[in-house]
Amino acid sequence: MSLPLIPAPARLDLGDGEPHVVPEGGVSMWGSAFDEPGDASYSLKASASSLIYRAQGSPGVAAAHATAHQLAELAGGVIPALEIDDAPRYPWRGLMIDIARHFFGPPTLRKVIDLAALYKFNVLHLHLTDDQGWRYEVPRLPELIERSSGSEVDGGPGGFLSTEELAELTSYAAERGITIVGEVDLPGHTAAALHAVPALNENGLPREVYTGTEVGHSTLRLELPETKDFLEDAVGALVDQTPGEFVHVGGDEVRLLRPEEYATFVQHVEALVLRLGKRPVFWQEAAASLQDSRSVVQLWDSNADPAPVVAAARRGHQVILSPGNRAYLDMKYDADTVLGLDWAGLVDVRDSYDWDPDTLIPGLPAEAILGVEAALWTETIRTEDHLFSMLLPRLAAIAEVAWSAPEVRDWEAFAEDLPAHAALWESRGLAHTARPLPGN
Ligand code: ACM
Repeated sequence: MSLPLIPAPARLDLGDGEPHVVPEGGVSMWGSAFDEPGDASYSLKASASSLIYRAQGSPGVAAAHATAHQLAELAGGVIPALEIDDAPRYPWRGLMIDIARHFFGPPTLRKVIDLAALYKFNVLHLHLTDDQGWRYEVPRLPELIERSSGSEVDGGPGGFLSTEELAELTSYAAERGITIVGEVDLPGHTAAALHAVPALNENGLPREVYTGTEVGHSTLRLELPETKDFLEDAVGALVDQTPGEFVHVGGDEVRLLRPEEYATFVQHVEALVLRLGKRPVFWQEAAASLQDSRSVVQLWDSNADPAPVVAAARRGHQVILSPGNRAYLDMKYDADTVLGLDWAGLVDVRDSYDWDPDTLIPGLPAEAILGVEAALWTETIRTEDHLFSMLLPRLAAIAEVAWSAPEVRDWEAFAEDLPAHAALWESRGLAHTARPLPGN
């Protein structure tokens, strides 16, 4: 659904001295969330006769717009008279959706984007490849889609985003202040590529289709003659098809390479992405191998020693925090939750809300934190209702962690507001999980 109407009359003040009228039906954003990096600050003034946004550019307008919509929806369609001065704590406020284990196409992803925009997220990270399926087109390797998009966990039909669909989604997201960051997971999590492109295998034979949920059983090998061309084509196509400054190139859970082989692979991909004009984002396992401080490290495994991530931050790398025991929204809420996994523990709403990224990891310099990202892996998530019932309410909690400092956050107040948010999700037809609040 489209965003609800902002009551007219409304004006935008972009700092250029010109009033900008909000058209019926909302504001069209422009550019990407990273056009003016980090600056999503805004002020908003609502009175009986006008609604004025003041911002330096599109990220601030997107944020003001999201706040206005949230206020309007929570207050039954009318924005109460108020003035807000607001700025985000972190420039990267992300949500990752795994569309490889189970495929979710544009209709669901547009609903995800609408929801993420409402909560002032500015990055949608799409996990586009994994053992179970390949989900974006690589023009020089059409066999990736032909042979490896029609599979998913437990033998479902799979699917993929055509170049046109990804372009449309990218524009749809940009209009709402969100940049899509695509991920091609390398060198592990590559059984789908090894199935589609036989020359990537040591024996030159295609791997079997994989529809289970184990990890660590596939890898690319840089020493095989076709691998570097494959990387050039696959990473190049993703760089071409996604906007913004970053591309995600995985690096997690590689169990079949020796440490020096893994480091060489990571460094090859790091150099490739930089040569193609973007900054690479890697999962935390790559931290010790990175050579260029433009590369970003994404922390996820709350059971692992964070020392290599801390060391990388001290060498100048920025870090995105997705700690499994806080931000992995595929974890079960409690022992009775039917969907989801529990390797990082049970993650109830309060676990997602009550943490401070700046102090979570001892020794991690706060200034190295680029931001916070929620993640939804889909091994057990087969339907749109499954997806939203795992996101909500925890996505609203992570949104506050990413946007607001701990001093202005309050669990009791957040829990008290949740029924109004739940009504908003219901009015949009989004499933959510009822939690016993505020005690959890
Ligand atoms: C991950 O959860 N393997 C990044």
